[in-house]
Amino acid sequence: MTQTSQTPRTQLRIGPHTVQPPVVLAPMAGITNAPFRTLCREFADGVGWGDGGRPPGEGGSGGRGLFVSEMITTRALVERDAKTMRLIHFDGTEKPRSIQLYGVDPVTVGKAVRMIVDEDLADHIDLNFGCPVPKVTRKGGGSALPYKRHLLRSILREAVTAAGPLPVTMKMRKGIDDDHITYLDAGRIAVEEGVTAIALHGRTAAQHYGGTADWDAIARLKEAVPEIPVLGNGDIWSAADAVRMMRRTGCDGVVVGRGCLGRPWLFGDLAAAFEPGPEPPAPARPTLKEVAAVMRRHAELLAEWLEDEERGVIDFRKHVAWYTKGFSVGSEMRKRLAVTSSLAELDALLAELDLDQEWPPGADGPRGRTSGRNRVVLPDGWLDDPYDRAGVCADAELDTSGG
Ligand SMILES: Cc1cc2nc3c(=O)[nH]c(=O)nc-3n(C[C@H](O)[C@H](O)[C@H](O)COP(=O)(O)O)c2cc1C
Repeated sequence: MTQTSQTPRTQLRIGPHTVQPPVVLAPMAGITNAPFRTLCREFADGVGWGDGGRPPGEGGSGGRGLFVSEMITTRALVERDAKTMRLIHFDGTEKPRSIQLYGVDPVTVGKAVRMIVDEDLADHIDLNFGCPVPKVTRKGGGSALPYKRHLLRSILREAVTAAGPLPVTMKMRKGIDDDHITYLDAGRIAVEEGVTAIALHGRTAAQHYGGTADWDAIARLKEAVPEIPVLGNGDIWSAADAVRMMRRTGCDGVVVGRGCLGRPWLFGDLAAAFEPGPEPPAPARPTLKEVAAVMRRHAELLAEWLEDEERGVIDFRKHVAWYTKGFSVGSEMRKRLAVTSSLAELDALLAELDLDQEWPPGADGPRGRTSGRNRVVLPDGWLDDPYDRAGVCADAELDTSGG
């Protein structure tokens, strides 16, 4: 079978933006800042490996996608919190500029969106209703919020009205747990309120990151909201998974999160997989030397972005285990890499590695958080009435963005 018949060839449009390939970098707090988005975009554009040549198997000239910012809390944005203002920084080449907002109060969400429009801070706004962390759901925020249909509607209405011509999308989970599924209702509400596209992570809040994502739910949402694009999310670990999800669910595009942790070149594979051609190219399988070069660039970009080498290299530490996953590096070296605080130190340690190692098979497949939870912490009586006019107290919003 040729790729033409294998690869879904729909064109994804988010408002005025054509997203080709139909691939979105999932917003990930603490990860998808400007430096990480730059790396992913470079690979999507086919220039990520620099002068070092392409690792065997990598192919295609690449293309673009959509690369969403870390979650920005609406309250921190309207208060112009300094950290938040840095998080909404886009390098001059990023188009469209995509910001994910998290908010629980319709008025504050409206203000934040209006600020983005008035100050030309972004070209696309995504609203996050999928956060499963207890400190948020305990107050009725995040993935607990769509259970209250009126509140969800009010937030979407304020956002879409304030956004004017800017497209507003939403990202959500299936629901709170198997007994409290919300995504189909939320999807219809989103369409009625003028949301441009919906991303569904095929897990409930109770599942957290455990088990497997329910791709059938993505197919059901696609049937329920035929008017707008549906983006499927959950457990895409390779470009082949992305193509498989689109074929199986009929979704219009995919959102890729944990699969690109320590593997930004996945965006090169994804771009190549959606290009016309006789066969999908084999995935990139870089050697440790090639991985080390990407690690170095990632740390350097973080240092530049934070305008502080030490802070940049310290922020990079969290990525080390993902980049070196499966390679024979040794626990002692892993520990040393995880406490570096300068680029020179990082260079010296990387030079000590056995850089000729081939890509280890163990590095494919799941990475990042994979554990589940049993119980979702909710406010008292939260599940009593999905149609009441309950609001959510303002402190359900996190104090700072990206958390
Ligand atoms: C470290 C981390 C941070 C995340 N932060 C956010 C966030 O800020 N906003 C959001 O909507 N989802 C967030 N998510 C969820 C992802 O966007 C995505 O929905 C989830 O990881 C499932 O997709 P995947 O299987 O491709 O990883 C985060 C996930 C991880 C692992």
